Amino acid sequence: MTSPFSQTDAHGRLRHLITLDGIGRGLIEELLARAQGYVTPAGALPPRGDELAGWTVANLFAEPSTRTRASFELAAVRLGADTINLDVMLSSRAKGESIIDTIYTLQEMQVDVFVIRDAEPGIHEYVARHVGPSVSVISGGEAHLSHPTQGLLDALTIRQCKGDFGPLVVTIVGDIRHSRVARSAHRALTTLGVAELRIVAPPAMMPGASEFAGARRFESFDEGIAGADVVMMLRIQRERIAGSGTTDSVEYHQHYGLTAARLARAHPDAIVMHPGPMNRGVEITSDVADGPQSLIRRQVGNGVVMRMAVLAHLAATRRARAP
Ligand code: CP
Repeated sequence: MTSPFSQTDAHGRLRHLITLDGIGRGLIEELLARAQGYVTPAGALPPRGDELAGWTVANLFAEPSTRTRASFELAAVRLGADTINLDVMLSSRAKGESIIDTIYTLQEMQVDVFVIRDAEPGIHEYVARHVGPSVSVISGGEAHLSHPTQGLLDALTIRQCKGDFGPLVVTIVGDIRHSRVARSAHRALTTLGVAELRIVAPPAMMPGASEFAGARRFESFDEGIAGADVVMMLRIQRERIAGSGTTDSVEYHQHYGLTAARLARAHPDAIVMHPGPMNRGVEITSDVADGPQSLIRRQVGNGVVMRMAVLAHLAATRRARAP
C-alpha cells in the first residue's frame, strides 16, 4: 500500500507545492505577505534577493505556457538561482526516457527545485515521492486539477484591490469543469473566507456536484454576475474537451462573454480578472480586457512576486530543516 503523501513537513512548512488542498489560511496569508513584500513601485527596478543563491531551479513544462514558465524563471533568477528550462517535448522524453529518469538525470546536476507542468494527473506527486530529501517539486499546472501558484497570485491581486476577503462576492465564469485555475481559485478564496463564491457555466462546462463545495452555481451569466465584486473570466479549455471544435464561439460569446453591458450588472467597483491566455471576442471583449476595471496585466506581474514568495519559502524551510 502507498504511504500517505504530505507536501508539508511536521511543522506545517512547505516541502513541495502541488495543490492548495490542505493548505491552511495561516500559510496562505504568510505567502501573500511575503509576495507583497517583493512588490516594487511602478517604474522601479524589479525586486532582487539572494534567498536562492547557489540553488538551481528546473522548469519542466510538457504543456504550452507563457506566463507561468517565464515568471518562474524570472522569480528564480531574481532570487539568485541558476535555471534550466527544459521543453519536455524536445527533451529525451521524446526518445522514450521516463519522467523519473529525466528527474534523476537533472538531480545529478544538483537541481534543487523542479517546476512541472503536465497533463497527466498524479505525475507531480509521483515525482515528489522520488526526489531526494532536499529537493522540492512545485506544480506549474496539473491537468484540469490544480494550478496552485495561479490561485495564490489571484488571491494576492484581489487582496491588493479589495483588502478584506470577508465581504466579497467572487464570480468565476466559463469552462469551470476543465479548469485547474478555477479549482485553485476556489480553494484559495474559500480558505481566505470570501462571503460568496459563484461559478457560472453552460451545463457541459459545469463541474460535478461533488466539486466546488459551497459555491453557488448559475447557468445564467446575467444572474451570476449581479452585484459581484470580482469577475474572473476563463477561456474554453479546448485541449481538454473531446469534440470541442463544435463549440460555437459566437454563440458562446452571446451567453458567456464579458461585455461592458454585462459588467455594468456587477458592483460598480468590480474588478475583472483573467489568468490568460485570453481569447478576445470569445470570453471577453477587448474594451473590458483593456478597460479601467481590468487587473489582467497586474495578475501577470503578481505572478512573478508570488512565485518568488513560494521559492523563498521553500528555501527558508530547507534552511530550517538543515541540521
Ligand atoms: N495562467 C497561465 O497558466 O498562463 P500560461 O499557460 O501562459 O502559463
